[in-house]
Amino acid sequence: MRRPLIGGNWKMNTTLSDASVLATAVKNGVAELEGVEVVLFPPFVWLYPVFEIIEKGPSFLTLGAQNMHFLDEGAYTGEISPLMLKNMCQYVILGHSERRTYFNEKNELINDKVKSALHHGLSPVICLGEYKKEDKVEAKNDVFVQLKAVLKDIPKDLIKKAVLVYEPVWAIGTGKPASGVYAASMVLQMRQTLAKMYNLETASQIRILYGGSVTADNILEFTSQREIDGALVGGTSLKAKEFISICRQVAQATK
Ligand code: 13P
Repeated sequence: MRRPLIGGNWKMNTTLSDASVLATAVKNGVAELEGVEVVLFPPFVWLYPVFEIIEKGPSFLTLGAQNMHFLDEGAYTGEISPLMLKNMCQYVILGHSERRTYFNEKNELINDKVKSALHHGLSPVICLGEYKKEDKVEAKNDVFVQLKAVLKDIPKDLIKKAVLVYEPVWAIGTGKPASGVYAASMVLQMRQTLAKMYNLETASQIRILYGGSVTADNILEFTSQREIDGALVGGTSLKAKEFISICRQVAQATK
C-alpha cells in the first residue's frame, strides 16, 4: 500500500521566527498521528533550524528542500547542492511550475536534477502540470511530455523513490482547485504512462499527489480518490492550524 504524504511547500515565505513557530506547531500538532507522512519544505536558509525542531518530533515528519542544483559543488553563486541537503533532507521538490515559469527551468535540466537527487539518496518530488484549464489536449501534451522527459533514462530500481505531483498550473494559488474526479483521472493516466515506461508493479508503487489550492475544506475530495496519494500544499501550509487539520483528516481516513 502507498502511504499518503502531505507536503507543506512554504515557497519564499516566513522569517526565521515564523518558521520556528510554524515548525513547532506542526511537530506538536501531528505528533499522535498514524498512517501518514508529513514533509515540510521551508526556504533553504531555514532548513537547519527546522531540522533541529523536527528532529525531536515523530519519525514520519521529515524535511525537504524546494529546489537544488544537479552538481555536487562548484562556482555556481547562490546555488545549493545535493551534498548540502542530503544529511538534513529526505525530499527535494523538482520541476515546480514556478521554477519553470520564473527561472526558465526546462525538462532537460529537471531530468539532470532528478538523476542527481536519486544518486544522492534524496527522493525527488517531481511536479507536473498543464498551464491552461479545460484544454484536454494541452493538458495531455504538457503533463505527459513533461513526465517522459523528466524521467528519461531513470532506471526502474531508482524511480520507486520518486514522488510525482499533479499540479495543474491554473489551480496553483488561485483558490480554484481542480475537482477530485478530474485530478484523479489525470493521476490515473500518469500511472498508466509510468506502467508503459517501467511496468505495472513499479507504477503501482510510486506515490502521486495532487497540488493546487488544497485547503482543510477540500483535502478529502482529493485523498478520497483511490489514485491520489496525498497533497502538496502551498498557501495553506503556512497556516499551522489548517495544515495540521489536513494531516489529521488524511491520517483519520487511512484507519
Ligand atoms: P497553493 O496550495 O498555494 O495553490 O500552491 C500549490 C503549490 O504550488 C504546491 O507546490
